[in-house]
Amino acid sequence: MEKLDATDVFSEWVSKKKDEGMEIGHAPSVNKMLSLINPKLNYMFAAVDVGCGNGWVCRKLSQNQKCKKIVGIDGSEKMIIKAKEIDPEGNYIHAKLPHWKPQEKFDLIHSMEFLYYLKDPLKMLKDFFNFWLNPDGLFIAGIDYYLENEDCHSWPEKLNVHMTKLSINDWKKGMLDAGFKDVEIHQVASNENFIGTLVMFGKK
Ligand SMILES: C[S@@+](CC[C@H](N)C(=O)[O-])C[C@H]1O[C@@H](n2cnc3c(N)ncnc32)[C@H](O)[C@@H]1O
Repeated sequence: MEKLDATDVFSEWVSKKKDEGMEIGHAPSVNKMLSLINPKLNYMFAAVDVGCGNGWVCRKLSQNQKCKKIVGIDGSEKMIIKAKEIDPEGNYIHAKLPHWKPQEKFDLIHSMEFLYYLKDPLKMLKDFFNFWLNPDGLFIAGIDYYLENEDCHSWPEKLNVHMTKLSINDWKKGMLDAGFKDVEIHQVASNENFIGTLVMFGKK
């Protein structure tokens, strides 16, 4: 059977309010990710959340007093419509990656559970580095679908969508090959049933 487009699947999820379940489920990992970068964000910054879903992380980031601008980007039109309904003043863009590029660069890129839906996520890391980030800009992304997390290996079949499965070392090498410095790899929010969200951090 031909694979479905991930953004269509997530638009269906909005109709079933499953975006709200993701918000609850992903919050422990995102909170850890934000606690890793918050001490480094001691200047006014412009940020983007890539694959923002209903925009909940944008609204969280906007509470940081140093955040002068936050943009959310998602390829699911229904996610973006919902984000704008919740937060009419917010800056949410309906765009599919990897083809879309921003007109201005950011000081922070955040992304949760998005990268592996791409056919070539390591090329996306290079694009983020070259076309999305200001000098000294920070990048942080979390993913639950990775080689070492065996419990997730059935997801592509279950959802019938493409997912790119890479190892922790592949991601680390991808960050370094993209040009990032000060690269850190973490596994956060683990528990007895979960080896943790793989978090990659780097600086331009
Ligand atoms: C698992 S959800 C995560 C949403 C949000 N980050 C969260 O944690 O609740 C993945 C999101 O990535 C978006 N997405 C997947 N592939 C995409 C693509 N090629 N371009 C833009 N967005 C995409 C989906 O529409 C979906 O909203």
